[in-house]
Amino acid sequence: MKIALACDHGAFEHKEAIKLHLLKKGHQVQDFGTHSEESMDYPDTVYPASCSVADTSNDFGIVLCGTGIGASIVANKVKGVRCALVYDPKVAEITRMHNDTNVLALGGRLTSVAVALEIVDKWLGSSFSQEERHKNRIDKICRIEETENDHE
Ligand code: RB5
Repeated sequence: MKIALACDHGAFEHKEAIKLHLLKKGHQVQDFGTHSEESMDYPDTVYPASCSVADTSNDFGIVLCGTGIGASIVANKVKGVRCALVYDPKVAEITRMHNDTNVLALGGRLTSVAVALEIVDKWLGSSFSQEERHKNRIDKICRIEETENDHE
């Protein structure tokens, strides 16, 4: 699979570990940075990575910041992206099955590298359930996306 990776300084170590882990498993990784622990603004890496999932250059995205909150907010601004902030492997599975999430957000300061790798494996190893009730809910999200800019 082709996977976009992005982080800020608060999760640089996690991003590097996830990159290595994914490459070892045979995935292609596009690394949008950041490339050090020097302070930077997460929208600068997370936004282009999320766009690359929306435009299908990448199949999935994994975005990280200190808490994962900022990264998930940015990712969910991109039309076509459904991003979940996950702290627990069970939720990683549920959010693929129910929400068909295509971007995963992680918090480098709140999740250990070992748990982050577990979450990544569980998330990538799970699939959308295809159940009608979940399809309907995702369709409604897509309709909200279509009209969201109309209320200015
Ligand atoms: C950076 O200090 C921190 O604000 C950021 O990594 C993230 O936690 C924001 O949501």
